[in-house]
Amino acid sequence: MVSKFSCIECGREYQPGVRFRCDCGGLLEVKHEFPEVSRALFDGRMGSLDGPYCSGAWRFKELVDPCIEEALIVSRPEGNTNLYSHRILCEYVGLNDISLKHEGENPTGSFKDRGMTVGISEANRLGAKMVACASTGNTSASLAAYAAQADVTCVVFIPEGEIAFGKLAQALSYGANVLQVKGNFDDAMRLVQEASERLGLYLLNSVNPWRIEGQKSIIFELLQQRGWAPPDWIAVPAGNLGNTSAFGKALREMVDLDLLDETPRLLALQAEGANPFYRLVEGGGNSLEPLKPSTVASAIKIGNPVSWKKALKAISETDGVVEQVSDQEIMDAKAIVDRCGVGCEPASAASVAGVRKLVDEGVIDSGDDVVCILTGSLLKDPGATVGYHTGNVEGVTPRYANPPILIEADLASVEETFAQIALAVRENR
Ligand SMILES: Cc1ncc(COP(=O)(O)O)c(C=O)c1O
Ligand SMILES: [Zn+2]
Repeated sequence: MVSKFSCIECGREYQPGVRFRCDCGGLLEVKHEFPEVSRALFDGRMGSLDGPYCSGAWRFKELVDPCIEEALIVSRPEGNTNLYSHRILCEYVGLNDISLKHEGENPTGSFKDRGMTVGISEANRLGAKMVACASTGNTSASLAAYAAQADVTCVVFIPEGEIAFGKLAQALSYGANVLQVKGNFDDAMRLVQEASERLGLYLLNSVNPWRIEGQKSIIFELLQQRGWAPPDWIAVPAGNLGNTSAFGKALREMVDLDLLDETPRLLALQAEGANPFYRLVEGGGNSLEPLKPSTVASAIKIGNPVSWKKALKAISETDGVVEQVSDQEIMDAKAIVDRCGVGCEPASAASVAGVRKLVDEGVIDSGDDVVCILTGSLLKDPGATVGYHTGNVEGVTPRYANPPILIEADLASVEETFAQIALAVRENR
């Protein structure tokens, strides 16, 4: 049983190590020799209390990293994230039913932990002493936490002033060396790749194929939670395109291994101001044009996504769709997800906003079975959330605002406010 790195362009194979691109320039992906697997094997581990199989990533070890020794695994543990639905949400998107898989329930509050546990375990296997990433925030929070657990030095490159405070707070607190780059995420990404080569840092962005392997477990777990019945659609926010790529690979491998008969359609959602992948697919071209990104959803504010070739394959193999949504649509959808008591960060809500748009356009049928991936927790970006409810997000009208009410410190003010609340409730009935 071996796992190799293989070039997605020319098929050349490499021993898994610190290089993530082929001599031809193509991205590498992991190619496993899979052991015997079955749904029953993974079902038997459900509810396990012991590591590493209690993790929603390592429960599928045979599919993500079959060869690594258990002693080398660094796990928090990840995954086991829940599916949610709500009447208000169904009404908002125009579907009879829709579920939200909340990846914000991972240990550091985003889906990144699923890829990071595999990536850091591989860093451990290679004996890496220093790990690094560029980040719009969540990757740095996740890497900082896992590096702390593995006791290795961590360097994160973040765009100055562009990452949400919850994420910055995590990276600082977990002890990462935080380098604020005077530029955007794409500048930070270029820099970390150069620095990793020059200084021997082990790179843990999703260009590292092991990250993609871990993120495949979102799909495995989602299908397992549904008794292995695929939905019609899986909607996911798309920035650097690691998840879109991972989802495509997961579905491809499940079909090859007879774990799944029919593939759901992938729906990848980009912000209008950070939409190079949408433009590529819409334009029918075969080369991505980088752009200068702009969106309130800072997690997906990316103009030159690394994994676009892998993601393109994922979209074409699943008869997928790529759509764009405006900041207004993202923030309104977020307010609805939040109002359902579930909550998410802005980028995550792009999935819900995109589903609503495609239901409206008739691409998704109102009876279709749809799962949206919420990629990060509400608590990641308090600035955007409070900004929305107080009318302070530039270019966004808060249609579902719930601003705080300022009152005098006396009972009369409370009574007066209650009368107004009661009136509003009656009017909304
Ligand atoms: C909350 C959130 N959603 C979506 C994304 C985009 O994911 P990907 O880069 O895999 O497309 C990110 C990436 O940082 C993120 O943090
Ligand atoms: Zn190659």
